[in-house]
Amino acid sequence: MARSDLLLDLVEAERRGDRDRFRLLVEALIAEERANQHHLLADRLSELITTTGHSKPRDDHAASVRDLVQEIVPQRRLTELELEPTTRRVLGELVEEQKRSDLLRSFGIEPRNRLLLAGPPGNGKTSVAEAIAAELMLPFYVIRYEGVVSSFLGETAARLDNAFEFVRTRRCVLFFDELDTIAKERADEHETGEIKRVVSTLLLQVDRLPPHVILIGATNHGELLDRAAWRRFQVRAELRSPSRAQATKYLEVLAGRLGGDLGYTPRTIADKLAGSSFAELEEFALDVRRRAILELPDADLRRIVQERLEYRRTQATE
Ligand SMILES: Nc1ncnc2c1ncn2[C@@H]1O[C@H](COP(=O)(O)OP(=O)(O)O)[C@@H](O)[C@H]1O
Ligand SMILES: [Mg+2]
Repeated sequence: MARSDLLLDLVEAERRGDRDRFRLLVEALIAEERANQHHLLADRLSELITTTGHSKPRDDHAASVRDLVQEIVPQRRLTELELEPTTRRVLGELVEEQKRSDLLRSFGIEPRNRLLLAGPPGNGKTSVAEAIAAELMLPFYVIRYEGVVSSFLGETAARLDNAFEFVRTRRCVLFFDELDTIAKERADEHETGEIKRVVSTLLLQVDRLPPHVILIGATNHGELLDRAAWRRFQVRAELRSPSRAQATKYLEVLAGRLGGDLGYTPRTIADKLAGSSFAELEEFALDVRRRAILELPDADLRRIVQERLEYRRTQATE
């Protein structure tokens, strides 16, 4: 049975003739029925509000949606990630707002649902997005640009619409990686009318997104993002490369997790690998452990580390 406050709001919206609100509430209702495994009812309601009477065959639609969004089963948890205290708090608050949205709604307030993650590659943007879906136990949908971007004029915007249409009636996390590929500055004079249309579609859809869909955007280049797109995210978090202290701590965690020390103290290795991302530190530690295991029983860890550092230096200067 649907929530009573939702039903009351629904009737109220209809009475006032507020079509947009009415639709938003029906979508919330569908998402709720879906979450309760009432798929037939959810699909039927979804058809009623998304079609104008003469709908496309269902299978057709399903196939095209698979090209546009990919569902990934989230594995990672927020607790497994190294995050600055402020970032951890901000992300935790977002998760709590979503978890306790019923309480907020009983006071007439919606939870926040739009998060932008910025920062250089390999410092946890994708991991954080995935972890948020895991914390909320929601499906994690990733936009597939190769499916969305079409060479036909006008088609990209239409496909983007389809992807949003699909997620709107589901409680889920929708992830736009490398958001700057789509949401580039519209003012960029080299861009054609097509990209402008795509950005407008994106912004329109983001504005209309129901609060039960958590939109997460990631970008390596926050400065390339269209200002209007930037503003739409209620929460923004910068995931920076680790400082010396953070790198040291992360290497300690890694050594523990990988079941063995790394030949030198984490601090020494952190110094040698200054400027590396979390992903690079992890890759380095894994590499050392992998070699050490293969050279058992008398692996010379220090030599293994030095070889790898030397190899990095030659790679960097090439
Ligand atoms: N903040 C972090 N804490 C712990 N591990 C991290 C962190 N950032 C990155 N990693 C490791 O590096 C890998 C790649 O990170 P990813 O989330 O894909 O970065 P991005 O999306 O920013 O390029 C992750 O799978 C994880 O193992
Ligand atoms: Mg990524």
